[in-house]
Amino acid sequence: MKLARFSRIGFILAAAGSAVGLGNIWKFPYIAGEYGGGAFVLVYLITVVLIGFSIMIAEMLIGYLGRKDTVTSFEELAPKNSGMWKYAGLQSLAGLFVMIYYSVVIGWIFNYIVTSLSFLPATVQEAESTFNAMLHTDIATQLFYHTLAFIWITYVLTKGIKGGIEKMNMVLMPALMLILLGMFTYATTLDAFGQAFEFMFSPDWSKIDSNAFVVAVGHAFFTLSLGMGAIMTYSASMEKGSNLVTNAFWVVFLDTVIAIVAGLMLFTFLYQYGAGPAKGPGLVFISLPAAFFEMGIIGNIFAVLFFIALAFAGLTSSVSLVEPMVQYFIDRFKWSRLKASLLMGLFFYLIGIIALLSNIDSYREALTWGEKNFFDWVDYVTAAIMLPMGGLVMAVFVGFVMQKQRVEAIMKPQLGFAFEAWYFSLRYITPVAMFVVMLSLLGILE
Ligand code: PFF
Repeated sequence: MKLARFSRIGFILAAAGSAVGLGNIWKFPYIAGEYGGGAFVLVYLITVVLIGFSIMIAEMLIGYLGRKDTVTSFEELAPKNSGMWKYAGLQSLAGLFVMIYYSVVIGWIFNYIVTSLSFLPATVQEAESTFNAMLHTDIATQLFYHTLAFIWITYVLTKGIKGGIEKMNMVLMPALMLILLGMFTYATTLDAFGQAFEFMFSPDWSKIDSNAFVVAVGHAFFTLSLGMGAIMTYSASMEKGSNLVTNAFWVVFLDTVIAIVAGLMLFTFLYQYGAGPAKGPGLVFISLPAAFFEMGIIGNIFAVLFFIALAFAGLTSSVSLVEPMVQYFIDRFKWSRLKASLLMGLFFYLIGIIALLSNIDSYREALTWGEKNFFDWVDYVTAAIMLPMGGLVMAVFVGFVMQKQRVEAIMKPQLGFAFEAWYFSLRYITPVAMFVVMLSLLGILE
């Protein structure tokens, strides 16, 4: 059977679809708000260029050479008698774990698409109580939309690389970009655009501390979809003879531009119609709807379009979070794609229900350990442990374990004089940065 491969543009859009997700539009603006705007954005951009880009190329390389699921790819590229490396491929599990809460959040977004058609909250207080009522009391609505997300994602996965993943990204990614571009253009005509620009780009150096650095590295990883086998799995279906550096460049570029465009647009609306740059996860679900209300009827249209774009971003990332494990069961256990997709889908769907319930008032206590409920634990364990560990393992693998000649043969012609810099970054800069991030997120390093 001939293996399905992405077309060149299909690969770039699918990998960019993976990268551009809730991280860009939901998380990035609120962390930027929390860490003082410009200073954080600057550190984040530096980390994306120095660490993110190198790891993206490394991850693509493993997938491209391995041509299989992540476990097999590591196994085959490791020197003989070092079978332990196959366990590195288990980083793909992290994607499935992220889906546990990711799907619930996509459910909230679906709900907001529908409700924004006819209702927007008049004040931030009203927006807050509307959001909290959904989050803490409304099981039925959340469950309904979480189910819808599960069906959509699983269906696309059953259709495979070409007919499912590529096809979906070829439609949703351009649509997402068009919507954001349209809204961004409108935002540039508003007075508050200058303020938003200043907030995002004028660094307040007093806000830069080691914590901002850790958060920036962690976020750069999450937003670029690194350390979970997603980019690796997609790269296994990259066309032969592809240029990994160009592909990685496009993915990093699109991801970064979209995060910045979305951030500038959101903060413009918040300055112009709301209470300024809000903090916290409620930014897009609380402050933003209240700002849209102030725009009148155009606000409803914008709100619906905005949440549609956010849903598209989330859905294209979701398939990439689950595909690595689907591929794993297809390659290693010879499961059919239908069976693998369905079972992986059911896994995140059913455990997602527990995450959903852990936000509900009457279940929260039973589903809370220490300071975090189940939902937050999943986010924490994936972001603080699994993701940096995945990055660390990948950098060490390409930097030290794989034969240098093998890496050089492919990467030197593509990277030219930058090859040594890239290799150095993988060997020394990235592993240290990952280690520091992990220790610090675990609270071992203050
Ligand atoms: N990059 C996605 C986002 O920014 O929301 C999330 C993500 C997708 C992380 C796929 C990791 C991954 F493997």
